[in-house]
Amino acid sequence: MKLIAPLLAALAVLSAPPALAAGSTAGLQNTDCVAPGSSASLYKTQSAPKYAKLFGIEYHDTYKVLSDHSSKSTYVLYQCGSDKPSVKDAAAFIPIPVSSVAAWSTTAPAFLEALGVQDKIRNLGTSPSITSACLQELLQEVIKPFDEGNATSVDQQEMNNTVVFNMPGGQDANTTNTVYSAEYLEGSALGRAEWLKYFAAFFNAEERANALFDSISANYECFAGKANSEYNALRPVVAWTSYAEPSAFNNNTAYWQISTASYKYDLVRDAGARMLNTTGGASATTFKTAAAFLDALKDADIVIDESFVSYSYADLLKNYGVSDPGKSDLVWVSQSRVFRPDRIQSTAGGLDWFEAPLVFADALLQDVIGVAHPAFSKKHSAIWFRNLAKDDPVSVISAANCTDMYAQRQDIADTCSSVDFQPANPSDSDYSGVEPGKTQDPIYDISKSKVINDESGAASLCAGLALVLVAAAAAAATVAL
Ligand SMILES: *[C@@H]1O[C@H](CO)[C@@H](O)[C@H](O)[C@H]1NC(C)=O
Ligand SMILES: *[C@@H]1O[C@H](CO)[C@@H](O)[C@H](O)[C@H]1NC(C)=O
Ligand SMILES: *[C@@H]1O[C@H](CO)[C@@H](O)[C@H](O)[C@H]1NC(C)=O
Ligand SMILES: *[C@@H]1O[C@H](CO)[C@@H](O)[C@H](O)[C@H]1NC(C)=O
Ligand SMILES: *[C@@H]1O[C@H](CO)[C@@H](O)[C@H](O)[C@H]1NC(C)=O
Ligand SMILES: *[C@@H]1O[C@H](CO)[C@@H](O)[C@H](O)[C@H]1NC(C)=O
Repeated sequence: MKLIAPLLAALAVLSAPPALAAGSTAGLQNTDCVAPGSSASLYKTQSAPKYAKLFGIEYHDTYKVLSDHSSKSTYVLYQCGSDKPSVKDAAAFIPIPVSSVAAWSTTAPAFLEALGVQDKIRNLGTSPSITSACLQELLQEVIKPFDEGNATSVDQQEMNNTVVFNMPGGQDANTTNTVYSAEYLEGSALGRAEWLKYFAAFFNAEERANALFDSISANYECFAGKANSEYNALRPVVAWTSYAEPSAFNNNTAYWQISTASYKYDLVRDAGARMLNTTGGASATTFKTAAAFLDALKDADIVIDESFVSYSYADLLKNYGVSDPGKSDLVWVSQSRVFRPDRIQSTAGGLDWFEAPLVFADALLQDVIGVAHPAFSKKHSAIWFRNLAKDDPVSVISAANCTDMYAQRQDIADTCSSVDFQPANPSDSDYSGVEPGKTQDPIYDISKSKVINDESGAASLCAGLALVLVAAAAAAATVAL
């Protein structure tokens, strides 16, 4: 028994929580308002961040104090019916559970759908970019897009909700119910996913958030453990890159970038690979010429292109200044290892990349393992990444792909414990050019949570980020996430 109990507990954690039927109140606490003056201790199930560094939740008898550290904002969520608590310097006081919310980003709705509370969404911004099939259907039938051309109308729509989720800095001057969320600025993949707990606090859905996050994080850790034991000695070097074409947003001057976002270091290391060393030599990660950019990429084995334009491999080679790919001594060119995270698209060209992978970090890691070690499983097929050099097809998702628009969105990761991890075969062409034996990644030390040139710096130009998320089809901005 002693041995079996922990084993069962481990299995219980690894299996995803069961799907909730539409309208189910399972996993919700205190769905009713309380009588005025009530002082009972209401929140039996509580959530606390373990990986996330940018939010906090404090529980009191009849209210919660939620903090977004990125914007230094505090929100008081008090049980409806109870007396409004007095808390200093709060940006908003919000009666919970909330029954009507709006959101401006593509990321917040993905968290709401994973919690099964998308029936509470009344308005959305960025709506043409939304890729989730059921959110697309809700947008056709129930959810109203923000009336973006008319500020007065937007104000009315915003104030018609209890909460408007927005990116830090994005609050409209005339509204009082904005809540910032910074899930996309977290430094680790699990940290991003853990914002489930932040969003859940508004719906008293802590139990759902905890169960889902425990399942995601256990599955993630299992994938990271297996990838690192199987592939420790044969780690391809990965670079995340982008090209910005000349436009009104960059003074009509093209530039090239190698991303150093810390969540990408985290993912690449956990996938049994190495991030390209951008600390030495040409230390710049933004390049003014294609030649300097290509020179910085000479040690890369794999390139993941995030340019915010949709294009063919021939376009990429042209934009990157690769003139004769057949004779290139860049191994990622000669071995056709150029990927893009744009496999899942909406009918309007929005990318699921800005939605589900923030929540389902385990599925994301599994997909990055598939990029670094394409033969890691005989059963896995890629979710978000496609090999552009090999012309992998995209998959277009429409409202018709939704089976139940109010059902809790399910994790699409495989259960790691049942994945058929294949040993690395150094003579396989997947590894040609990969320098073996480089097992460490001293550039990034997660234990010290060191953030190297975190991309959030660039992204915090909120207008720029909003553009990235709002104008998905306008091929003007670079991808900041
Ligand atoms: C705020 O309201 C004022 C007065 O109604 C209006 O003139 C202004 O355009 C509004 N600002 C925004 C950002 O909606
Ligand atoms: C903007 O919205 C307001 C409120 O709905 C409406 O009264 C006004 O006519 C709209 N303005 C335009 C130019 O459509
Ligand atoms: C406010 O919400 C109600 C209920 O969904 C809706 O009928 C009404 O049109 C909304 N008003 C505005 C200004 O969006
Ligand atoms: C924009 O480009 C012009 C022409 O190359 C240059 O003179 C100007 O300094 C640039 N402006 C900025 C802000 O970089
Ligand atoms: C990265 O490059 C610099 C300069 O070439 C070097 O000093 C450093 O050791 C390298 N780091 C790794 C992890 O290889
Ligand atoms: C979405 O629907 C299309 C058309 O029915 C189908 O071909 C495709 O496989 C579906 N995609 C997913 C991910 O279910």
